[in-house]
Amino acid sequence: MIRLTGLTALAAIFFVGSVAVADEALDGFEIAVDKSGAIRVPDVDYRADWTMLGTFSVAGEEGADGLHVVYAQPGAAQAYRKDGVFPDGTVLIKELLGTKTEELTTGTVSYAAETSGWFVMVKNANDRFDDNPLWGDGWGWAYFDKDDRNTSPTEDYVAECKACHVPAQATDWVYVRGYPALKSK
Ligand code: HEC
Repeated sequence: MIRLTGLTALAAIFFVGSVAVADEALDGFEIAVDKSGAIRVPDVDYRADWTMLGTFSVAGEEGADGLHVVYAQPGAAQAYRKDGVFPDGTVLIKELLGTKTEELTTGTVSYAAETSGWFVMVKNANDRFDDNPLWGDGWGWAYFDKDDRNTSPTEDYVAECKACHVPAQATDWVYVRGYPALKSK
């Protein structure tokens, strides 16, 4: 009897836990999008609180010229691992960083320096904002310069984003090949 009660309590905790994760993956619209579909860089400490999906290093002549570090809000990577798709409201932030390159004891090493801007994508599984040119192909799309996280200079994702993401079209326009956090091993 005692054991049964214990198990029931455990099941209840587990259930509440999974609901909380699912809810968190859905609050992308409130944190990154206003009612008209304008996108902003969410005002969160994504470096501390979000999942770092992976990093792209853009090669330069000596070391890396730039690092692109990609984050998703809590719950999104877990949902992707489970279902193989990004849940509605998933926010992806790609932070653009300059680099320093030095001879360290491990070799010629490049590491992150200052932030120069962000690219943001917001998963839109329900065709919202049909008439807004930042939205289409199942996502909202916007770039931000480091001086303004709230106003994007992007006017039209078809002209400014889409062509470069065609090589990732089969994986919902996202370069998932670079994200170990979406794989279980
Ligand atoms: C010059 C080509 C190019 C353009 C233009 C471009 N992207 Fe990308 N984007 C990429 C590539 C390649 C990656 C992955 C590798 C990297 O970052 O170097 C990427 C990655 C991203 C990521 C990380 C998630 C993912 O898809 O893997 C986001 C977010 C993103 N881009 C948003 C945008 C938005 C929004 C625009 C338009 C405002 C845009 N991109 C325009 C080439 C481009």
